[in-house]
Amino acid sequence: MDGPSRGADVVAVLPAAGSGTRLGAAEPKAFVPLAGVPLLVRAVDGLLASDVVDHVVVAVPSELVDRALGLLSGRPVSVIAGGGDRTASVAAGLAATGPDAEVVLVHDAARPLTPVDVVRRVVAAVRAGAPAVIPVLPVADTVKRVDPNGVVTDTVDRSALRAVQTPQAFRAADLRRAYAGIPDPATDDAGLVEAIGDPVATVPGDPLAFKVTTAWDLRIAELLLAGAVLEEMSGRTV
Ligand code: CTP
Ligand code: MG
Repeated sequence: MDGPSRGADVVAVLPAAGSGTRLGAAEPKAFVPLAGVPLLVRAVDGLLASDVVDHVVVAVPSELVDRALGLLSGRPVSVIAGGGDRTASVAAGLAATGPDAEVVLVHDAARPLTPVDVVRRVVAAVRAGAPAVIPVLPVADTVKRVDPNGVVTDTVDRSALRAVQTPQAFRAADLRRAYAGIPDPATDDAGLVEAIGDPVATVPGDPLAFKVTTAWDLRIAELLLAGAVLEEMSGRTV
């Protein structure tokens, strides 16, 4: 599949090149089936179902590029080889987004049930002028800091804390500036934009945008798909 066509002004980068160590499946996490459909296919289809994403650049382990192309055939995607950490995979994806992209989203392949409304919210906020936008949720649990022995040193004021999800959306030029040079590995892309001094706005995230990290998360995702609850909550047929 070719790169983004002319006029593809919202392009999503999908880092899907991780090994999934914590999931512990027989194959890399993005290729693990969830109710028969690999996580990366669900994540791509969720982005495209939002109707606000023109093209998706998917970064996978280099030996799985052809397999990903087969799984994603017929969709407006390009598939590239990712890097040794998430930041390197996103950097490779960003380099393949093409000159016409005005808005770039970065979305984990590991969030297969993300509702279309979350995608629409982050894109709308960038279109309204924010250079960088992330979906967030309040932190429900009490949070404490501990020393290396596991002994509590203090209780953090959770009212100012947010758990951060993807997709994160950026003005393309700002994300390219944040990724110029070789950034240190980061767990999210907004962190790199913060580091160059740009403001990062927030919009409400959604519990269904949770990341599949462990076998427990995959089981929860299967149970959600098995029930009617998902269609009710997500506004998309999955
Ligand atoms: N990712 C990537 N390239 C890497 C590492 C991670 O594209 N070298 C992607 C993963 O495929 C995933 C997303 O970044 O979609 C979030 O990372 P994470 O949940 O940590 O996935 P893994 O790194 O695969 O899992 P683990 O850390 O348990 O090995
Ligand atoms: Mg990882």
